Amino acid sequence: MPYSVGVLVGSLSSTSINRKLAEALQKLAPEDLVLEEIPIKDLPLYSQDYDQTFPPVARDFKARIEASDALIFVTPEYNRSVPGALKNAIDWASRPWGSNSFAKKPSAVTGASPGNISTAVAQQHLRSILSFVNSPELASPEAYIHFTPDLIDDDGNVTNESTAEFLRGWLESFAVFVSRVTSALGDGQHERRG
Ligand code: FNR
Repeated sequence: MPYSVGVLVGSLSSTSINRKLAEALQKLAPEDLVLEEIPIKDLPLYSQDYDQTFPPVARDFKARIEASDALIFVTPEYNRSVPGALKNAIDWASRPWGSNSFAKKPSAVTGASPGNISTAVAQQHLRSILSFVNSPELASPEAYIHFTPDLIDDDGNVTNESTAEFLRGWLESFAVFVSRVTSALGDGQHERRG
């Protein structure tokens, strides 16, 4: 059975380069990883007022995180951090207190930017958040993607072979990591921490 990998794209933009990267990753993934986006765009802003009764959209989102064997975050950098929409989505799935959907769920982070820093600072912030929600993270290799207009074609193919090869290797490393974490820690779906 392949691992089901939920993909969280940190952008709400209809022309998102990070969604393009996520689509390319779907195509480059090894057979034992099946990637599928878990949309975040319809989530309202989180408030503790919802903790007694989550709205259906947030319940569904949380259920999809929990049903995933692992998660890949593909995020832009906004003002040297993660976009608010992505942080909001993480806040939803981490709550209510005692029902943190990320606990023991292996994750990997990447992101694309037209700038030279290539989301490095946002990824570091995201790693800090994922540590707190107890998600074991792929430490290495890191994947900072400097996006150029022709890097990914309209069919989601990476046009630069060395970038494609790098991303294939990154996904292979994640598949090994997911397998090790899953066998060491259990499936992660029944463990909860605040
Ligand atoms: C950006 N952008 C940006 N880029 C970067 O490398 N570092 C940054 O800190 C920022 N900050 C930032 C803030 C805001 C509010 C916006 C809208 C944009 C540029 C950003 O990388 C670019 O718009 C990407 O195309 C965003 O990714 P998506 O939405 O296309 O996936």
